Amino acid sequence: MAWLDVLWQWLYDTSIGTQMREHESLFPWVEAFHVVALTVVIGSIAMLDLRLLGFSSAQRPVQRVLDDVLPVVWTGFAGSVVTGLLLFTSNAVAYAHNTSFQWKIGMLALLGVNALSFHLLSGAQLESWGHQARTPISARISGAVSILLWIGVTLAGRWVGFTISSI
Ligand code: HEM
Repeated sequence: MAWLDVLWQWLYDTSIGTQMREHESLFPWVEAFHVVALTVVIGSIAMLDLRLLGFSSAQRPVQRVLDDVLPVVWTGFAGSVVTGLLLFTSNAVAYAHNTSFQWKIGMLALLGVNALSFHLLSGAQLESWGHQARTPISARISGAVSILLWIGVTLAGRWVGFTISSI
């Protein structure tokens, strides 16, 4: 879409984009923080997903696991988005057209749909099953889909670096 390319080109031309591209060590530092932040997100959300799947914390109510991990998940996610956007500005047009990058953003959107459907479906009746070790099938599906999509986002994110056209 041509109008989106205008936006990506504008981001590329901003002083942040220019600094990210031209500064000797800014990109590697931001990418290092991106990796730390995504490790925080995936490590914390995996605790919830494994509880939903029945592989860990079986004696802990799901609500307690949720209360413990969600602040950490959101902090890590905010860090991933901020650092990801900074990285994106460095070569915005090329990233936007990169198939692996498009897969990555698509899977992040699906993760949002998966989280929302968990909260609206099985999550809405948490009081009735949250104390049981064995969770309803819909909750187990949400946990499995989440783990698979996070693995997919990570693989696609790494793959961008192998396939992106140089600046
Ligand atoms: C929490 C969700 C995210 C995960 C799991 C993730 C995963 C990754 C991974 C594994 C890498 C490669 C790191 C490396 O090679 O050292 C990466 C790089 C990158 N990510 Fe993310 N990312 C996430 C969110 C985002 C967001 C929201 C954006 C932008 C809107 C973004 C933009 C980028 C860019 C531009 C790169 C650099 C690619 C390159 O040229 O090597 N990421 N990400």
